[in-house]
Amino acid sequence: MRKIILLGYMGCGKSTIASSLSKNIKIPFVDLDKKIEEKTNLSINAIFEKHGEIYFRKLEHEVFLELLHSPDELIIGLGGGTPCYANNHELLKGEGVVSIYLKASIETLFQRLAVNKSKRPLLADKSEGEMKEFIAIHLFERSFYYNQAQYNVVVDDKTIHQTVLDIMDLLA
Ligand code: S3P
Repeated sequence: MRKIILLGYMGCGKSTIASSLSKNIKIPFVDLDKKIEEKTNLSINAIFEKHGEIYFRKLEHEVFLELLHSPDELIIGLGGGTPCYANNHELLKGEGVVSIYLKASIETLFQRLAVNKSKRPLLADKSEGEMKEFIAIHLFERSFYYNQAQYNVVVDDKTIHQTVLDIMDLLA
């Protein structure tokens, strides 16, 4: 059954947009990070602290594959780094997959992440000044992977509702 995959940098709104899309089109939403947290009984922060990032990336790949192979139609919200490891980007073009990159500018991401970085191990220890430069470089490095998605939807200056309508247009 079809999988609708939402991807994009931390703070682009994947989970919020996916939840709203799910209500509108009546397809269940699974958040990959939440699924990993449930399986391990650990928060993403704790996984990074206890086991390190490489362990997390392996787990992320396995759980992503599991969701892709599930018999159900699903909306899957990826973590910000998911497409950039373990050849996950190749899975964005698989059969029965619709992948959508939620594209946000550095400024939008910075504004959103500055107030909400503690749950994100890659940002938690950064000052505001460091964060802006980090986001700019990181987004540039990751763009190749994000651009493997079948569709792009720009989220800057749009309400959740407008973004969901844009996605529904693509799916129609
Ligand atoms: C990460 C993004 C996070 C989470 C982990 C690593 C990344 O997900 O998977 O902290 O590498 O960008 P969100 O994009 O949902 O914050």
